[in-house]
Amino acid sequence: MPLPMHDVDPIDTAIEIDPAHFRSVLGHYPTGVCVVTGWRAPGSAAGLAVGTFTSVSLNPALVGFCPDKRSSSWPLMRQSGRFCVNVLGADQLDLSHKFSSRGADKFNGVSHGLSKLGLPVLDGIVAVIECEIASEVEAGDHMFVLGRVLSLDILRPAAPLLFFKGRYGTFTAL
Ligand SMILES: Cc1cc2nc3c(=O)[nH]c(=O)nc-3n(C[C@H](O)[C@H](O)[C@H](O)COP(=O)(O)O)c2cc1C
Repeated sequence: MPLPMHDVDPIDTAIEIDPAHFRSVLGHYPTGVCVVTGWRAPGSAAGLAVGTFTSVSLNPALVGFCPDKRSSSWPLMRQSGRFCVNVLGADQLDLSHKFSSRGADKFNGVSHGLSKLGLPVLDGIVAVIECEIASEVEAGDHMFVLGRVLSLDILRPAAPLLFFKGRYGTFTAL
């Protein structure tokens, strides 16, 4: 018999897992690096680097990512109802550093343009995925944002930037 589907109950899941151990174990699973961009106000671009971006569903086309509840950019960006995923290439480490910083205008000195739907898109990225927010749920100290894909393209089929065990790298085929 299939198990019933239900939301994660924080009481059920209150098992003591040491955060450092969690980080260490999960660090053994590599991720790509994206910058999620959007408008924090008309004409004012915002963005944050994320490793939690993932493909969710093919039909309908859905993707997701998890912004930290402490993110200063996401609460502003989400108000427009749309976001743009910028997949970084291995030669764009500087953009990961810039967009994983806090506060200052991260777009200062960063060449960018507008996506098909008018969202901020960084120059030189590997791929772009434009979304509208389908839903957003609390997930512990993060949110889970589900995005309905409105438009997507490969802009430069270059090697991706990867993050693994706290270090950056790229992909080598076996
Ligand atoms: C490789 C990498 C992956 C990251 N993944 C995430 C993520 O999935 N979610 C998140 O909220 N922050 C993530 N961060 C941290 C944010 O980029 C960082 O906290 C950023 O400064 C938040 O900016 P904000 O306060 O402008 O939103 C990641 C940082 C790096 C370097």
